[in-house]
Order: sequence, then C-alpha cells, then structure tokens
Amino acid sequence: MKPKMIIAPSILSADFSNLGTAVAAVERAGAKWLHIDIMDGHFVPNISIGPAVVNDLRKRSKLFFDVHLMISRPEIYWQAFAKAGADLITFHCESAANLLGLIKAIRKAGIKAGVSIKPKTAVSTIKRLLPYVDLVLVMTVEPGFGGQSFMVGMMKKVKEIRKLLDEKKLSCRLEVDGGINKETAKMAVRAGADVLVAGNSVFKTSNPRKAFGDLEKSAAS
Ligand code: DX5
Ligand code: ZN
Repeated sequence: MKPKMIIAPSILSADFSNLGTAVAAVERAGAKWLHIDIMDGHFVPNISIGPAVVNDLRKRSKLFFDVHLMISRPEIYWQAFAKAGADLITFHCESAANLLGLIKAIRKAGIKAGVSIKPKTAVSTIKRLLPYVDLVLVMTVEPGFGGQSFMVGMMKKVKEIRKLLDEKKLSCRLEVDGGINKETAKMAVRAGADVLVAGNSVFKTSNPRKAFGDLEKSAAS
C-alpha cells in the first residue's frame, strides 16, 4: 500500500539570491517537503550549496528537509548536513564505500536515510538495502542539473522497486527526481513512485505557488 503522495520542490531551480522567498512560496502552497540538492563538482559536474545554506534555511522553514547528496565520500560530509537540519539524507550508492554502514550511522543520528541510483545503475545494486532504508531515489535524469528531460525508461526500475517493496511489505518511500512536470508526474505515480521531486516545473515559472498546486493536482489525477 502506497502512503500519501508527496511533491518535493527542488530549490536548485529557485533564485539563489532569494531562497527564503522561494521556500515560503511553496510552504504557502501546501508543500510538506523541500528537496535540497548538494553537488560537489566531483561526483557530478556541477557545484551547488553546502551545509551553511541548509542551516540558514532551517531557521526559516519547518518543511521536511529532503537532502540529496550528489557528492563523493558522503561518509565524510553527511554529519554536517545532519547538524544543519536535514530530516532525510539520501546518498548515492555509486559514491559510498560501505552502504549499509552509512545507512546505519545516519539512522543512529535520528535522521532518515535514503539511497539513490543513477540512470545506468541497476536495481540489483541496492536490493539488499531495501529493508534498512527510509527512501529509495531513482534518478530520472543524469544527476547534476535541473531542467533536463525525464527518462521514461526509468519507469521500469520504479516498477521493479515498487514490486519488491510491496512483496516484502516495506513502507520505504520511493522517490523520482528529474524532469517531473504535469505529464511525467502521472507516469511516475502510475509506476509506483510516492515522492516526486520537481525543480524547473515549480520554480522556473512566474507563480511557483500555483505551479506547485497544479502539479499536485495532476499527480493525484
Ligand atoms: C538533478 C537534481 C534534481 C533537480 C531536478 O541532479 O537532483 O533534484 O533539481 O530538477 P528538474 O525538476 O528541473 O529536473
Ligand atoms: Zn535531487
């Protein structure tokens, strides 16, 4: 049984000189989660923000902070994001050395732990971790940039994970990230996702508050 669907706006597509306003807009629109992309210019070819920004956002927002680490050596940096106010820390299985060890350490700190797979990574890579994680993130674009096109082919992986979770009666969340708009949101939900990250389709619009609401309606229909 899938829990209530969540749309997590990604601030990577917001105006970085005005993050507080961007967050307030989606909070007013009824968002519960905020997706925060951390990029190090090494694991992905882009650099975004660090723990200081997360810490300052935490002072202004009560949203559930869904922190997506697209960095090398997440085992070294996750604690800084935990301290900064992350509610969930998702790292990439392609970048961590001891996957289960990292999941356990994050959870021991009282924070939810997620694991993510890039488009070319098979579900089998993370299958054994499903009983231990709070969320699995299936990338529907190559990580690194907002505004890319949704990879429809990834729905096969979403379906595969949904089946495994249902078979094992696991309540772990299943998130998709990249290229979500009103049309692709429906595909992702049909495949079994219950958390949809949306960057450009919310923040690169003239009215993020309305865009969030429209997306939520479309995903639920
Ligand atoms: C991409 C990031 C995404 C990005 C999504 O690597 O992980 O969270 O912000 O942006 P859109 O929704 O524009 O594809
Ligand atoms: Zn992301």
